[in-house]
Amino acid sequence: MPLRQPRLLVLSALLALPFTASADPSAMPAAQRADAGKPLIIAHRGASGYLPEHTLAAYAVAVLQGADYVEPDLVMSKDGQLFARHDNELGLTTDVARHPEFADRKRKQRIDGVELDGWFSEDFTAAELKRLRAIERIPNIRPGNARLDGQFEIPTLQEIIDLVKALQVSQGREIGLYIETKHPQHFQDLGLAMEKPLVEALARSGYRDATAPVYIQSFEVSNLKALRQLSSLRLVQLYGKGQPHDQVVQGNPLTYAQMATPAGLRAVAQYAVGVGPDKGYVIPRQADGSLGQPTRFVADAHAAGLLVHPYTFRAENSFLPTELQRGDSPATRGDIDAEVRAFLATGIDGLFIDQPDIAVRLRAEARR
Ligand code: G3P
Ligand code: CA
Repeated sequence: MPLRQPRLLVLSALLALPFTASADPSAMPAAQRADAGKPLIIAHRGASGYLPEHTLAAYAVAVLQGADYVEPDLVMSKDGQLFARHDNELGLTTDVARHPEFADRKRKQRIDGVELDGWFSEDFTAAELKRLRAIERIPNIRPGNARLDGQFEIPTLQEIIDLVKALQVSQGREIGLYIETKHPQHFQDLGLAMEKPLVEALARSGYRDATAPVYIQSFEVSNLKALRQLSSLRLVQLYGKGQPHDQVVQGNPLTYAQMATPAGLRAVAQYAVGVGPDKGYVIPRQADGSLGQPTRFVADAHAAGLLVHPYTFRAENSFLPTELQRGDSPATRGDIDAEVRAFLATGIDGLFIDQPDIAVRLRAEARR
């Protein structure tokens, strides 16, 4: 039977934990600050290897597994509220298709150059988004997660902040927010620019400057530069394939490959404290799908003064280099330990991972 009050699950987990004396992260010893972890463990979309992504439950489990930061991707509602979803198209990760009252909202539009047919967050008010429930994005790979389809609400940024602040008390340590703005050019074109509401929401909760346990990341460039003008919160430039979408829209030729050169990285360092490259920038795969040799990316980024937080580590065969896959099923776990160890050896400063417990274990092992 669907649980209509998923926050109760989180609360139950909290009540089972010991409370500590200090609830004020700024009063905590340096070892308990969110950035004390080396490398930083960033729970990608929460502990999305164990629970449907971008749910309060997934973020809570990530924290209980020892993640330093949880990663909400954010999109905008029609009435300007920030919600956690990887995509503004809602059909892949919510039960919107099962709501007959929203059937007429289905439409086609191009998002970041790709034609999509679905339901879009900007067509829904915050109250309407709250009627949806999360479903698993990749049920064939994560059938356990899919058993929880329909159980959890779509959280707002404020609900995530409230969760993190509650868990900081019970865990006795600071827990960070590693926030990604999704489709910022698209939302700006709609008159729903994300940057100011995001900075204001964070400031209301006490996250105001570079000392706050917050990073804001984006695959686009212009919105990071706009954020640099609005706030001194720490910014991270993500690297994908081809060109940042805002650069395409503005007719600029800048590519991620150019941004990955020593000169390109120095330019990024003018507005960001770090870079979040696809893993292939750090250790590319070979033609046969096996792990190749490390590139100069980490050294060049460090020379520019940038932190390096590659994405995304996932334990299932489907996502691993060929030589680290085990058995025939794409859903079975392979030798992710070997992959993570190879990346840790390159000197990265953090990593995004769907199963944070694995990185916590390997980080502890590396310290011994
Ligand atoms: O933000 C790092 C990583 O999450 C970027 O990829 O598509 O999972 O948001 P994506
Ligand atoms: Ca992300």
